Amino acid sequence: MKQIPAKGVPSEELFSQLEGFKQNDVRWREGKTWAYVYDPGAEAADVIKRAYTMYLTENGLDPTSFPSLLKLETEVVSMAASHLKGDENVVGNFTSGGTESIILTVKAAREYNRKHRPEITQPEMLLPVTAHAAFHKAGAYLDVKPVLVEVDPVTFKADVDAMRKAITPNTILMVGSAISYAHGVVDPITELGQVALEHNLLFHVDGCMGGFLLPYFRRLGAPVPDFEFNVPGVTSISMDLHKYAFAAKGASVILYRDKQLRKHQMFACAQWTGYTIINPTVQSSKTGGPIAAAWAIMNYIGDEGYLEMTRLMYEGIQKVCEEINQMEDIRLLGTPEMNLLCFTSDTTNVFHISDEMAERGWTVHPQLSYANSPANLHISLNPASVHLVEEFITDLKDSVKAAKKLPPGDMAAGIKEAFATLDPADVGEEVLAQMLAMAGIEGTSLPGRMAEVNEILDALPAPLKERLLTEFINEMYTYQD
Ligand SMILES: Cc1ncc(COP(=O)(O)O)c(C=O)c1O
Repeated sequence: MKQIPAKGVPSEELFSQLEGFKQNDVRWREGKTWAYVYDPGAEAADVIKRAYTMYLTENGLDPTSFPSLLKLETEVVSMAASHLKGDENVVGNFTSGGTESIILTVKAAREYNRKHRPEITQPEMLLPVTAHAAFHKAGAYLDVKPVLVEVDPVTFKADVDAMRKAITPNTILMVGSAISYAHGVVDPITELGQVALEHNLLFHVDGCMGGFLLPYFRRLGAPVPDFEFNVPGVTSISMDLHKYAFAAKGASVILYRDKQLRKHQMFACAQWTGYTIINPTVQSSKTGGPIAAAWAIMNYIGDEGYLEMTRLMYEGIQKVCEEINQMEDIRLLGTPEMNLLCFTSDTTNVFHISDEMAERGWTVHPQLSYANSPANLHISLNPASVHLVEEFITDLKDSVKAAKKLPPGDMAAGIKEAFATLDPADVGEEVLAQMLAMAGIEGTSLPGRMAEVNEILDALPAPLKERLLTEFINEMYTYQD
């Protein structure tokens, strides 16, 4: 096991070690990582760093000791609320990310309904299958059952009638996305808002990915439908700042239509011997870094700056879409409404395309099939990558050509058949280990080419996939020399 070093290590040595550790990470600075990274360029990054480190040690636990953090948070939340067409009643909090914002909105919905509809003992939330996994996580943490509803097979948008039909006496919350992560499309928020009003339900819009940029896309002429607080029935919206507001990671906001709803997200405890806790969010002690960095970057880039960055992304992604639409072997899933998209293939194994792109230095994001969404590759375009659009397209064409010559994915059918009827609870750890070995995974090291692993995962039923990957990650997070 690793020990704390007996004597302190000189800082220079530590920093050189840190640089060394990074060697195997994705090389996002080269601009070819079209997933995971939201890169506004070096100059803006500098502003973020300065603000973050200035507030590194300040503690957001207690706004009375650090009133400056309260000021920064209320300013950021207020900018977010006005950006999303909220009136003066809209309130919210700064959180560590989309997942925390979503956990809080589910908690608020649960507590609100416990108060107003106490007859509900087994609460449910209605999720289009495209809603982010964070809602499932919130459901698992808070014991609110996700009820999944199929989406339109062509647009990949929530199906309003299907959502309406799925409402039961236990429904406490409806969810729509603007945009959905996987397909980059906006659900019919106005229509869903009507359903929520008809049934007197809370309705959350997940704007974690799209909330910040969509208004800019709309201002540039993109046909972005209403999804903000001007839509009747919308009761809360989450919007991440660490995505397309380009803040440092650890930055999101959760907004509510009014304080009456927001107060149900809070937690208070005076039943112990220490200080009374009243936490608006999940975290208690927390660095002021992300709040300061978010405040700084929003003010630094400013409205005109964001509009200009959006223009670059809009033009770039339109070009990518046009090219994909002309390619024979791949096709877009849905019509992307922002700077994210995914495409599939009816002739070629998309996981090979992903590997071929990796060989050419690109990181794209394979997405497994689920419900009526086939296996596909997902990309997002950053302002810092716009100059690489032509290169991306050339490499994509070459990758598709190369992938087409590789095996189309023959294993999948056999695996599907073998595991379809298996109850994941009955699968022992040994079988899981064998499955990992079959996919070419030894210990926790992944093979260079991932097509086979992805193909096997894709063929497994979801609960088995979840078990397999839990075992894998459980192994992965152990110290190795
Ligand atoms: C639509 C949507 N909601 C929620 C999340 C979760 O956000 P986070 O990863 O910041 O927790 C994401 C992340 O990509 C997302 O795209």
